[in-house]
Amino acid sequence: MEKILVLDFGGQYDLLIARRVRELGVYAEIMPYDKITLDQIKESGYKGIIFTGGPNSVYDASSPHFDKEILNADIKILGICYGHQLIAYMAGGLIRSAGSISEYGKTELTVKPCALFTDVPERSVCWMSHTDYVNEVPEGFAVTAVTDHCPCAAMADEKRGIYGVQFHPEVTHTEYGKTVLQNFVFGICGCSGDWKMEDFIERTVEKYRKELAGKRVLCALSGGVDSSVAAALMHRAVGDRLTCVFVDHGLLRKNEGDEVEQVFRGKLHMNLVRVNAQERFLSKLAGVREPEEKRKIIGEQFIRVFEEQSRVLGRMDVLVQGTIYPDVVESGKGDASTIKSHHNVGGLPSVMDFEGIVEPLRELFKDEVRAVGLALGIPEHLVMRQPFPGPGLAVRIIGEITKEKADALREADAIFRQELETAGVIPSQYFAVLTDTQSVGVMGDARTYGRTVALRAVTTDDFMTADWTRIPYDVLEAASRRITNEVPAINRVVYDITSKPPATVEWE
Ligand code: XMP
Repeated sequence: MEKILVLDFGGQYDLLIARRVRELGVYAEIMPYDKITLDQIKESGYKGIIFTGGPNSVYDASSPHFDKEILNADIKILGICYGHQLIAYMAGGLIRSAGSISEYGKTELTVKPCALFTDVPERSVCWMSHTDYVNEVPEGFAVTAVTDHCPCAAMADEKRGIYGVQFHPEVTHTEYGKTVLQNFVFGICGCSGDWKMEDFIERTVEKYRKELAGKRVLCALSGGVDSSVAAALMHRAVGDRLTCVFVDHGLLRKNEGDEVEQVFRGKLHMNLVRVNAQERFLSKLAGVREPEEKRKIIGEQFIRVFEEQSRVLGRMDVLVQGTIYPDVVESGKGDASTIKSHHNVGGLPSVMDFEGIVEPLRELFKDEVRAVGLALGIPEHLVMRQPFPGPGLAVRIIGEITKEKADALREADAIFRQELETAGVIPSQYFAVLTDTQSVGVMGDARTYGRTVALRAVTTDDFMTADWTRIPYDVLEAASRRITNEVPAINRVVYDITSKPPATVEWE
């Protein structure tokens, strides 16, 4: 199978690069620069390599470097941002720091003819984000693009098939970014583009069939899209040696537990254990208000439940989790700052009674996970349904969590979802949040002092950014009326009109 290596030097966009290549129908694999040697690269038969960006400066002693013999190894290379500077540095060029006048954002690019820029007009818009730049290209290279502030926005050694671009072709703000990647992958590396999602499944199943031979595997199933797809994938790899544990932590949506049981045990014929751990979670969470602390407690209790189950069920060797790429990034990958500890990544206790954790979807974005799910034959309504976070309603109850609050939120949330679904308005994600505010209202002739629920609905492709959904007023009105009528604890409903950023999708 033809594949491209994305050699990661600590950039923000490594997976986006891999994803763009996969969208072109070519499998892309990501490797941290210090986890693979030149010899291994040569043996692996990659059709080409993309060096990613990174936050460093090539002259810093601690900055990531690679064996410079790679430039003489007859391998096609494309360097992006830091990767571009690194190629220039390794080949003997000169890098400068722009100091205070770094380029950031949309920038006009002027290109010269070269294989990388086939079908790219002489002038177009690209996305820049850099302080350092290549000031003198190395011997054998020619400058192939410039901007007003950057004397070498791209360079090429066409004889060796080595290219560098200072801008980011992988982001959609670069008008001809896709063309640039296409030119590299097809025109320069000679790929044919016949890779499909089924191939990812086949590779992953094959990999774990070998790696987990004879092992007993436990899957943490939340009933959400990610863990469902992870479970189905692992079921293909290890069959009945997989046991799924579904923890009812008392913070599930209305009827969720029963639905999960029906699908996984009933339809997909998997070994499923449903654990009632409501008391345990709610008592550990009693009195805790701080969002990160709540997440850590939930993460830890999950693992304790799995460990216990592992003892009940007999020794389980490996734990499977449905972690996907946005969870990894937002929990702080490398130098990226931590936004939230998604419980299935950052909240793990350090001592765990498993040989290892397997995260088969760690490299995929949500829409890719859905494509895998459909290809695996999981019912469409399950695969396409909105995401639900592992910590459940806990991240939607602001302040202290109690059973009474969880019950009120569960009802309000079910009503909101029902009203949207009845009206045929289906945002990417939609739910209710129980705020920590109480306010005065009037019901009949009596004063009430009830809770405020916030409705949240967002439209997004990848959940890394999101826009609030413009729900028709009459749908909001119907939801508001029903919630205040049917949920006695709630006397006020508000609608959240904040995008991500600056907010996040969930409130905690
Ligand atoms: P945020 O709130 O970070 O949410 O903008 C982005 C997406 O991730 C989901 N989410 C989680 N999923 N464990 C999960 O499995 C978590 O701890 C978690 N926190 C947020 C959220 O529902 C949204 O789809």
